[in-house]
Amino acid sequence: MAAALRRASGVVVPRTSARVSQSTSAAAQRIKTFEIYRYDPDAGGKPRAQKYEVDLNSCGPMMLDALIKIKNEIDTTLTFRRSCREGICGSCAMNIDGTNTLACLCAIPDVSTKTKVFPLPHMYVVKDLVPDMSNFYAQHKSVQPWLNTKPGTDQTVENKQSKEERLKLDGLYECVLCACCSTSCPSYWWNADKYLGPAVLLQAYRWLADSRDATHKERLAFLDDAYKLYRCHTIMNCSNACPKHLNPGKAIQAIKKQLAH
Ligand code: SF4
Ligand code: SF4
Ligand code: FES
Repeated sequence: MAAALRRASGVVVPRTSARVSQSTSAAAQRIKTFEIYRYDPDAGGKPRAQKYEVDLNSCGPMMLDALIKIKNEIDTTLTFRRSCREGICGSCAMNIDGTNTLACLCAIPDVSTKTKVFPLPHMYVVKDLVPDMSNFYAQHKSVQPWLNTKPGTDQTVENKQSKEERLKLDGLYECVLCACCSTSCPSYWWNADKYLGPAVLLQAYRWLADSRDATHKERLAFLDDAYKLYRCHTIMNCSNACPKHLNPGKAIQAIKKQLAH
C-alpha cells in the first residue's frame, strides 16, 4: 500500500498515475483567453475582436510568446511586428490590457483574466496590430537624428567626448523609437500632424545634448514652435508609458528650458 493511493471507490491507483492525472488536470486549468483586434482593409469589413485560447503550459512567459504561438499554431493570418524579442528593436509595441508596451517585455497576465490586445492607439492601422508609422518616422527625420559635426572635424579619427559630456546622453540614447510614449499622449492624439510628440522630442534633445554637435542653435530654432514643441502640457503620460523607463517628459522640459535662456 505504501506505493499506491486508494480512491473512495476502493480502486487502487499507483502513485505515479495519480501524479500524471493531477498534472493533466492542472494543465487543463492553464487555458488563457486572448481577445485580439483584427482588421484587414484589403479584405473589407469592419475591425473586430477575435478570441483565441492558448494553453500557457506550452507557451513562453511573455505576451510576444503567446502571439507567436497563436500565429504558428492557430491562425497564420494574425499580423504583428516583431524582431529582436528582447526590447531592443521597438517593433512589437502595442496596447495590452489598456497599456502601451512592448509585447516581448510584457509578461502574460494572470491566466484567469481575459487579455485584450490592440494596436497602438490613435494610429492608422495597416493590418491587425500593425500601425502605420509613416508620420512618426517623418517627424523623427525632421529633427535630423544624426550628428552635424563642427567644420574642420577630422572624420578619420574617433570624435571623443569627456566622461561628463557622454553622461549627458544617458537616458536618451536608449530610446528604441517604439512610440509607446507618443501614442499615450493626449496632445499627440489630437495634433499628430503638427505636434512632434514625446518620442521625437526626446530624440531631438538627444542631439541638443551632444557636445559634438555644431547645430545647437538651428535645432532649437526648429523646435521653437507653438505646435512642434509647445503642445506638450506636461501631463506626463509619456514617461509613465515608456517600457524602457526613460523620461521623455523631462527631456521636453529641458528643451523648453534651453529655449527660455
Ligand atoms: S508630458 Fe507632454 S509629451 Fe508627455 S504626455 Fe504630457 S503632453 Fe504628451
Ligand atoms: S521614449 Fe520610451 S516609449 Fe518613447 S519611443 Fe523611446 S523607448 Fe519608446
Ligand atoms: S521584438 Fe524587438 S522590442 Fe519587442
